[in-house]
Amino acid sequence: MDMECGLKVFTQIKKSYISTKFITCLSILFLVLIIFQIQASSLSSPSSSWVFFDRCKGNIDQSKVIDALTAKLRNLVTFLPLKDLKFTETAMTGNTWFMSSLNATYEEDEAEYLYFPSNASKGQILCINAHHTSDGTKNSYALAWPETLPESATLLKGLTYVSDTYYSYDNLCHGLSALAPFVGWSMKNQCSKPARWVLFHWGELRTKMSSWVQRIMEAQFGDVRVEKFEGKTGPYCFEKAVVMRHDLGRMVQEKTLTVLDLLRCKAREFCDLNPTGRGAEVNERGVPIIRLTLLMRRGSRSFRNASVVADIFAKECAEVEGCIMHVAQSEEISFCDQVRRMTYTDIFASPHGQQHTNMIFMDRGSSVMEFFPYGWLEHAGIGQYVYHWMAEQSGMKHKGAWRDPVGKKCPYPKQDLECFFIYKDGKVGHNETYFAEWARKVINQVRVSKLEQASESIVSKQQVRSSVCEC
Ligand SMILES: *[C@@H]1O[C@H](CO)[C@@H](O)[C@H](O)[C@H]1NC(C)=O
Ligand SMILES: *[C@@H]1O[C@H](CO)[C@@H](O)[C@H](O)[C@H]1NC(C)=O
Ligand SMILES: *[C@@H]1O[C@H](CO)[C@@H](O)[C@H](O)[C@H]1NC(C)=O
Ligand SMILES: *[C@@H]1O[C@H](CO)[C@@H](O)[C@H](O)[C@H]1NC(C)=O
Repeated sequence: MDMECGLKVFTQIKKSYISTKFITCLSILFLVLIIFQIQASSLSSPSSSWVFFDRCKGNIDQSKVIDALTAKLRNLVTFLPLKDLKFTETAMTGNTWFMSSLNATYEEDEAEYLYFPSNASKGQILCINAHHTSDGTKNSYALAWPETLPESATLLKGLTYVSDTYYSYDNLCHGLSALAPFVGWSMKNQCSKPARWVLFHWGELRTKMSSWVQRIMEAQFGDVRVEKFEGKTGPYCFEKAVVMRHDLGRMVQEKTLTVLDLLRCKAREFCDLNPTGRGAEVNERGVPIIRLTLLMRRGSRSFRNASVVADIFAKECAEVEGCIMHVAQSEEISFCDQVRRMTYTDIFASPHGQQHTNMIFMDRGSSVMEFFPYGWLEHAGIGQYVYHWMAEQSGMKHKGAWRDPVGKKCPYPKQDLECFFIYKDGKVGHNETYFAEWARKVINQVRVSKLEQASESIVSKQQVRSSVCEC
């Protein structure tokens, strides 16, 4: 534990300040004595030494003044609510209700962030008093100079990553979107690793993330410690802190691709996979291997009849030489099994859901197929396209979505939210004709692109791979 009391640090500073002063006084005394000796012959006034003692007394007064000013600066530290209700309407855009008084730093192509201490903070560090887990307005933040931290503050040494998300760290997709910007920041800053993470949702303290998200951050940063602020009540101040509050925010696609390339590479390393040359895998007759993975869900948004769907895909896969199909149950496989499965997948088909986030572990250029229950197109809003965007951001090819046309119309006209709740957790049916044609088409596209790749040199690809994992 690298906690340290702010008070202790200050006492040390003050001690060294006093001892420096003491040594200065002694040296001046010594100097004055010499001068006094020299001047003694010319019978100058003996009052010189008294002038010196007056100066030293003046210094002691000054130190009292400094103490008084220090106490005032400590008291001046002003805590504001972490969640500012003024910005309720725009919490997801523009300004944010999280630390609303502080402006983010914008760097071209990067996610906007805040860094403390910085020129923008005039050298002040970030302090947070956040023990509430259900009301962000009761948690607070302040800026303070390291020498004058508020009374009872605990100073946490090293670098801290502070995140606020509108969504949830328990969800693979949202958790990844909230934390990936730190990977981007780290890449630009000597691959720095945080000593701890502080997580918020709407300004409410969160003390854990989904184990999938935790594993991927461990693969990147090593040990991941989520701060619980359990040690002491009162504020905690951070020697160095990076704050992200807009998920990927303004990060451009080029950068997102490199961040996800790095995470893919690190996750494979973490899981002891070395898939070099995997993309060019061929069977004994020299025909490219095509791996299709059908990832099933249980409960909400599962296929109404999973075995029929699996049979349709298996039949199409069997028609193409080199095609190998694998069916997996998303809830049953460990993080590394998911990474391994995706590393060796060219076509990933699954009903809409967070397990789609695993697509980032496939080689760039792999294919994604998605299935929706009835009612989503009309009522689910723009968020339903999240895996289209993720495919784009991670360099995959989204091969479209099938939407179940069978279902009952929503009884509430024009009430999207109520309607969405009806369909949100619906099951996904199937259309044998459509699935078979679609699977055939996608498998064939992959086959053609693999044959093209086989005729190109793969050396350049391997080079890309080795530099990608650097951070
Ligand atoms: C933040 O930015 C706004 C608009 O550019 C500016 O008016 C305000 O003074 C800035 N606040 C701080 C604390 O820098
Ligand atoms: C902070 O300000 C100092 C003095 O104005 C300047 O030399 C330095 O480059 C600035 N640092 C950053 C990171 O902008
Ligand atoms: C799935 O479909 C097959 C073939 O139509 C049928 O035999 C089976 O009972 C169905 N299973 C379920 C769980 O509905
Ligand atoms: C199933 O898909 C086929 C091919 O797209 C289409 O012609 C047919 O109408 C669909 N059947 C149903 C019941 O939607």
